[in-house]
Amino acid sequence: MTASSPSVAVPASTLASALPSWQGRAVRSGIFEDVGDWWTRASVEGIAPIIAVPTTAGTGSEVGRASVITNSQTHTKKVIFHPKFLPAVTICDPELTVGMPKIITAGTGMDAFAHCLEAYSSPFYHPMSAGIALEGLRLVKEYLPRAYKDGTDIEARAHMMSAAAMGAVAFQKGLGAIHSLSHPVGAIYNTHHGMTNAVVMPPVLRFNRPAIEGKIGLAAAYLGISGGFDGFYDYVLKLREELGVPDKLSALGVGTDRIDEMAAMAIVDPTAGGNPVELTLDAAKRLFHDCI
Ligand SMILES: [Fe+2]
Repeated sequence: MTASSPSVAVPASTLASALPSWQGRAVRSGIFEDVGDWWTRASVEGIAPIIAVPTTAGTGSEVGRASVITNSQTHTKKVIFHPKFLPAVTICDPELTVGMPKIITAGTGMDAFAHCLEAYSSPFYHPMSAGIALEGLRLVKEYLPRAYKDGTDIEARAHMMSAAAMGAVAFQKGLGAIHSLSHPVGAIYNTHHGMTNAVVMPPVLRFNRPAIEGKIGLAAAYLGISGGFDGFYDYVLKLREELGVPDKLSALGVGTDRIDEMAAMAIVDPTAGGNPVELTLDAAKRLFHDCI
């Protein structure tokens, strides 16, 4: 599982050497897509070691082996994966995130939260990732509101950098419908990925409730939230409000006219398989209606 929304740029030399016609022809990105062993098509000798220096705290792509490229003609996103995309060196310096605008602080921070929440909720067995996800949730709960209120709060910024990296490590365990819905919305309407995740989070939590109620109850207890699943759900609503996250996707410019198309894209998104409740076409349509 590699899909997220890393904003990593694929080093030009990497793909250019493997396929000279790559540059400027995003339409050909499909040949390196993260499907089966397609990643073996890239020429390893053309992949230079990557030094990653994140300037936001959310995607966690600094600890990932994937890159996402949007095909601007088809408005679809392709995940390009290669083990050598894992940065050789990552420099996480919270000073570099101090200048992030509030809206990006909120959006990227909520992306980290979504990674931890979906990794924790996915049905796959990976107790190490589950533990990392739980602690990532705690760091976001504790420090994202602080980083949002005061961008110069270096302690909060530092913990958010950790939470971002932890979310991306954790989602080796899987992601889910928050990302499956968010990816087509982002591809078609160019919305901010993390902010989109934050908007669709409550309807997805309600949808997944039958499968995750007990798990989320445990997470709530760890986070010091009373009331089990309901308490956690209310906390998410409160967090969104505190960070200025809109309640509906319509506030991000998303209309209902392309729901069928987005639902069809959502159910084949690589993240859909990690959702604890099967994301059928009907369910995806219903969720989009709820979210918009
Ligand atoms: Fe994400």
